[in-house]
Amino acid sequence: MPVDLSALCERNLELCGVRKGEVVAVLAGKAPTQTAYADAFTSAARRLGADTFTLVADDTPFDGTVGQTPLAGNTAAINALKQADLLVDLVFLLFSAEQIEIQESGTRVLLCIEPPEILSRMFPTKDLRRRAEKSEELLRNSRELRITSEAGTDVVYSLGKYTPLTEYGYTDTPGRWDHWPAGLVASQAYEEGVNGTVVLAPGDIIFPFNSYVSTPIRLDIEDGYIRKIRGGLDASLLEDYMSGFEDPQAFAVSHIGWGLNERARWSALHVDSRTIGMDGRSFLGNVMFSTGPNTEFGGTNNSMCHLDIPMRGSSLALDGRTLIEGGKVVLDELVPQPE
Ligand code: FE2
Repeated sequence: MPVDLSALCERNLELCGVRKGEVVAVLAGKAPTQTAYADAFTSAARRLGADTFTLVADDTPFDGTVGQTPLAGNTAAINALKQADLLVDLVFLLFSAEQIEIQESGTRVLLCIEPPEILSRMFPTKDLRRRAEKSEELLRNSRELRITSEAGTDVVYSLGKYTPLTEYGYTDTPGRWDHWPAGLVASQAYEEGVNGTVVLAPGDIIFPFNSYVSTPIRLDIEDGYIRKIRGGLDASLLEDYMSGFEDPQAFAVSHIGWGLNERARWSALHVDSRTIGMDGRSFLGNVMFSTGPNTEFGGTNNSMCHLDIPMRGSSLALDGRTLIEGGKVVLDELVPQPE
């Protein structure tokens, strides 16, 4: 059955607390799908009593690198978006200085890129939010995160400097960013506080390659940086891609966290080429290892090389307490409950 996009947007904007008297802005590009999404969101927002406007950016790069946006240096456009209570971002501002400035003005930001069928299937729930917030609390109160796997991963992150990030698919909190659809939590270690080995196993996903690992990749990590990449073809491809940025900061370890959305599918990338990979990043029980920038957490690494690597079948513990065992969420409070 075809998805009624505007009705779906209305349900999400309701979760976002959009109400009469608020201003909802949409930042769009010129592609027909973005125009359709802008219309769906603005008509939904007006049905909820909000005022709306759409800002169409002249240039909308989306090539898998992050941090470069069509708003850079455009004070007039940034100021207009800061006036909104909620900004729906259809162009991917993530990790940019512009987005941080807009958030700091109190505007909440909802990123939305995925096709309607995925927006519908992974639609957020209050239970997902509850489990994301519980995960955030656990991360915030922990000092050590350890990941192990049968493939050979054994790596430790020292936590405590940065505030964790939740993504549950909507936002009703002033200044808060979220991504619809999602279902994950992430934190960031002290800059030099990651040590050990990560072994990517067949089936793990590398974004932005948008592909599944088929030969194991061994990453030796010391003081927060990947020092050695070993393995077969997939290891060579990864090494070549990261070296191409000619940026030592590309090899820094970035955020670490896990997936919480029980309706996200590990296999989705295999069947829908339109996806930007929120299924892969959000499926329940994944452990997502990342590299590159940490500006979204308030750090100073603004590398344009950012990898998100959701791993299957890993185990994760916080201060010795196991949350995920072999890819299965085992901590009761994080197990999905019927609404
Ligand atoms: Fe990421």
